[in-house]
Amino acid sequence: MPYYRQVGEIPRKRHTQFRTPEGGLYAEELMGVEGFSSDSALLYHRHLPTAIVDSQTADDQRRGTEPNLPLKPRHFKTPDLTWDNADAVTGRRVLFGNADVVIAFVAATAPSPLYRNATGDELLYVQTGSGVVETIYGALPVGDGDYVVIPTSCTYRVVPTAGEPMRILVLEATGHIGPPKRYLSAKGQFLEHSPYCERDVRGPSEPLLADGEDVDVLVRHRAGLTRFTYANHPFDVVGWDGCLYPWAFNVRDFEPITGRLHQPPPVHQTFEGPNFVVCSFCPRKVDYHPLSIPVPYNHANVDSDELMFYVGGNYEARKGSGIGIGSLSLHPAGCTHGPQPGAVEASLGADFFDETAVMVDTFRPLELGEAAQACEDDAYAWTWARRQRA
Ligand SMILES: [Fe+2]
Repeated sequence: MPYYRQVGEIPRKRHTQFRTPEGGLYAEELMGVEGFSSDSALLYHRHLPTAIVDSQTADDQRRGTEPNLPLKPRHFKTPDLTWDNADAVTGRRVLFGNADVVIAFVAATAPSPLYRNATGDELLYVQTGSGVVETIYGALPVGDGDYVVIPTSCTYRVVPTAGEPMRILVLEATGHIGPPKRYLSAKGQFLEHSPYCERDVRGPSEPLLADGEDVDVLVRHRAGLTRFTYANHPFDVVGWDGCLYPWAFNVRDFEPITGRLHQPPPVHQTFEGPNFVVCSFCPRKVDYHPLSIPVPYNHANVDSDELMFYVGGNYEARKGSGIGIGSLSLHPAGCTHGPQPGAVEASLGADFFDETAVMVDTFRPLELGEAAQACEDDAYAWTWARRQRA
């Protein structure tokens, strides 16, 4: 994560005696990535973070993904997916996946179990609803438009606010997710040309302490799912410091980069992960050359699959395609895609696009999961030709 943060009580020097009010020692834990050679945090627990009393293989309902065959532009309607009092962990339905990332969706109304993902960082995008992401580092209140980055093996749970479901697009990476490196100084500070900076980043602000014995934590790891039972509640951290922690960033705090002529998608990049990037297309003033064409040119992204999640406004280049709020379009490598017929002419003279979309570009092909297959709009591929072969 970008910068150093300190929350709660910590000792003056690391790796020194830090005592509880009763005179015992707090248990120090280092959470670090890349084997003690990169970002880390030191956390101080009331109880041993190692003390488990049981470990059971958990039933993993998740099925595999299938190759994207035949290759074609695809449109999926997440509003057509249904859940019955799901939670944000066990209720995830897989839309897409490859060796680098699993992309899932959930409409959560119930609190999730305590959970951590040991295979990589997770990125949650909250489309609608609100709630609290409770973690061993503290709580993060989140709402619509929030991206939430949860580091590998951070124990957490999601508690939705009663009322509107939390609709969440979930990216489960097989590595680490962070801001694009080109926006960071050598020491990790956001640079002046970055579309967002430290002031836009929210982290836990105080410890979240819970009591309890024999507390279950569901762990997703490379071999499957395991349920650990901890002797004491894992939310027992009285303080921590470091540069590794969960954090949130709202898409409305992304400051779009614009120009006289069409700016390419990398100006919208918000995160990078292993073999994928995440971009935010936000409401913005558009191209101001007198002869500019504000919608994109046709493009063949020969090295990536392009997934767009439409979350606000009316996406200019996709008008007339059936795409609406909650839609996902998948334009895979091997296809050329571009504005819908008429969209170029319709965009001429526009000075503002009121649209919000989250884009995930993967550098390996995305396969289709059961949720994608359950909500596909089969007519989309033929919307440019406006007809299908008889
Ligand atoms: Fe595109």
